[in-house]
Amino acid sequence: MEKTKVLILGGTGYLGQHLLQAFAVTNGGSQYDVAFAHHSSPPPRLLLDSFPRFPAFPVDLKSGQGLDSISHNFGQPHVVVNCSALSVPRVCEQDPDAAMSINVPSSLVNWLLTFDKDKTLLIHLSTDQVYEGVKSFYKEEDETVPVNVYGKSKVAAEKLIKDKYPNFAILRSSIIFGPQTVSPVPKTLPIQWIDSVLQKGDKVEFFHDEFRCPIYVKDLVAIMLKLTDMWLSDGGPMQLVLNAGGPDRLSRVQMAEAIAEVRGHDSSLIKPVSATSVDRGVVSPADISMDVTKLIQTLQISPTSFREGVRLTLQSESLR
Ligand SMILES: NC(=O)c1ccc[n+]([C@@H]2O[C@H](COP(=O)([O-])OP(=O)(O)OC[C@H]3O[C@@H](n4cnc5c(N)ncnc54)[C@H](OP(=O)(O)O)[C@@H]3O)[C@@H](O)[C@H]2O)c1
Repeated sequence: MEKTKVLILGGTGYLGQHLLQAFAVTNGGSQYDVAFAHHSSPPPRLLLDSFPRFPAFPVDLKSGQGLDSISHNFGQPHVVVNCSALSVPRVCEQDPDAAMSINVPSSLVNWLLTFDKDKTLLIHLSTDQVYEGVKSFYKEEDETVPVNVYGKSKVAAEKLIKDKYPNFAILRSSIIFGPQTVSPVPKTLPIQWIDSVLQKGDKVEFFHDEFRCPIYVKDLVAIMLKLTDMWLSDGGPMQLVLNAGGPDRLSRVQMAEAIAEVRGHDSSLIKPVSATSVDRGVVSPADISMDVTKLIQTLQISPTSFREGVRLTLQSESLR
């Protein structure tokens, strides 16, 4: 039987590495042929050594350079997971042209259109920052009103995919948290950072008036695997937009309190401040908590609570 070919774009990033790890651990290579793309060249040695069976391709989504080599050497994938992005809102604000050209995957969609469209599912990572942030528990059908360049680039990406490509699942992810990756990513990981500052014993400011539904990275990986299975067994085109968040609506203060509780830190170190008191170089939506009923019902999953995700994250960090 033909193996399912899976291509992970942004395989060097936080989510991409967790996805590679899941394919490496759970499938032993028997059911899937996995390849991944990276932008930095060469990709980290540790990453290549950790996934020796998965071919790596350099790709620049700004231009599409590198995609043809995947056609020639790997062939048409059955599933493409696009984890590539300029994912830091402040960086997008500083360089809107780069944000638009990387986050709106025109070159990728044009490349996919060179194949038989029914045979490749595109799973694309979007964000909760497509929403304006003026109410709680956004639903997928609510209007998208992004307040910063990052959100605007993600809305433009969703529109491009919906207009041009008939077989997709778009995941509007909230903050992704979980263990560090096999080849550590340069960016600060939220749980590990909060844990380390509270550990030092200094008073730290956290926002009390910005709300998110953080998602445990392994849940997001499980969602992508489930979407793949669903599509393979159903066979027909998929056109799905899902809020991908955890079950809890939390401020940064509440996140810090949960971490303090799990780790036994002094919660009086947590100083609540308003998000409006700090200039972060980018407008940040206040409440982009999401209703995840559609995610739960469509995929029959039960996302991990924030507290349990924190426990699992810090437990696996202590084993590293
Ligand atoms: N992390 C979160 O909390 C979060 C929350 C909501 C949504 N998301 C979305 O989820 C997705 C994955 O996030 P992440 O945290 O894994 O991101 P990440 O760690 O920042 O990884 C981004 C990936 O994009 C690649 N990339 C950068 N520029 C590229 C280019 N010009 N062409 C091709 N690839 C390029 C990077 O490759 P190199 O490393 O090789 O340069 C890297 O693999 C993104 O779409 C992000 O916007 C993330």
